[in-house]
Amino acid sequence: MKAKPFRLVTIVGARPQFVKAAVISRAVAGHNQSPAGRPVEEILIHTGQHYDRALSRVFFEQLEIPSPRYHLDVGSGPHGVQTGAMMARLEPLLGHLRPDAVLVHGDTNSTLAGALTAAKLGLPVAHGEAGLRSFNRRMPEEINRVITDHLSTWLFCPTVAAVANLGGEGLLQGVRQVGDVMYDAYLWNRSRAREYSRILEILGLRRGRFALATLHRPENTDDPGKLRTLFSTLSRIAAERFPVVLPLHPRTRKAWDELRPRGSSDPSLFLTTPVTYFDMLVLTSAARIVLTDSGGLQKEAYFAGTPCLILREETEWTETVEAGRNFLVGADPVRIGAALDKALALKGKGSTSRLYGKGDAGLRIIQILSGGRKGL
Ligand code: UD1
Repeated sequence: MKAKPFRLVTIVGARPQFVKAAVISRAVAGHNQSPAGRPVEEILIHTGQHYDRALSRVFFEQLEIPSPRYHLDVGSGPHGVQTGAMMARLEPLLGHLRPDAVLVHGDTNSTLAGALTAAKLGLPVAHGEAGLRSFNRRMPEEINRVITDHLSTWLFCPTVAAVANLGGEGLLQGVRQVGDVMYDAYLWNRSRAREYSRILEILGLRRGRFALATLHRPENTDDPGKLRTLFSTLSRIAAERFPVVLPLHPRTRKAWDELRPRGSSDPSLFLTTPVTYFDMLVLTSAARIVLTDSGGLQKEAYFAGTPCLILREETEWTETVEAGRNFLVGADPVRIGAALDKALALKGKGSTSRLYGKGDAGLRIIQILSGGRKGL
């Protein structure tokens, strides 16, 4: 007789979590095809934190993620309102589903809401991307991830540093270094991205002859001085060095529309709407350099061998900086200029050491979870 399936609820809500959900759903399908191990029934819940088509639905279509069984339609709002609305809608649902585990990814408000609600219902929480720390409590994400880690039964770490961070907080039980699911996603999708994306032709860009930039962190977008400095620095790079492509998150678009000097425009600065995952992979690997405050993109640049300037004062992904491929530059034009020269002088693709695992993080997560809590 076949064992009763392990019931796994995965909660997603924001753009990077859709990419991670695709890895997990594929791992569930692969795991269920093998005769060994307990089958897994996955139920996907979308909180609705990201709702614009370009930030949500295109990811489900492109990455062939099963449609969420439940959509909570929470939308945007201040942290308390948004997180509270998610919890109010999740509580009866999780109470009804009573899964064997609730999987949350990363550090968004959807992560925190999922972890808190599940923990209060006595449901075991699994945290994908556990142990990352910026040690900057002014970041909402840092608060979300610290609390989620402390509520989790399974702590799936992407890196050695993440395991050490958890150890520093006394979290030893349930900690597993499985690798980074974003690396799984990168390996699985890079050739598909090359096949399907037409972004270089559409924007008229030549491989190795442009820079790719993104900005969405509140520390940059919500500080008018910093945002102005970053835009003028990017414009200068575009005017003096090479075209700069800047797909704008809606948060950044709004902030910049209020600030930007009327009538001025720099034709080398390509401001675009948010791009798909495939387009982003192609832009990242074709760019001469990446400048970003995103956690995911700084790693994708590393995977692709493209040097990267991190427009923040700290990073959770310290390995890429230690490897000499990524540079922490904040929003400071002098540091950006100096690091740009250093980064452009780098030769080759950088280390191929497996800092982020072997591309099987998703499968390992599912194998460990379906084994239940024994062995933790
Ligand atoms: C969230 C995460 C951040 C993650 C990012 C990925 C939190 C606290 N932050 O930031 O960690 O790196 O997602 O993209 O969870 N908006 C739209 N359309 C949408 C969604 C948002 O226009 O579909 C606008 C709204 O004005 C909203 C603002 O963007 O207020 C911010 O959205 P929100 O989900 O609160 O945070 P992000 O900046 O996207």
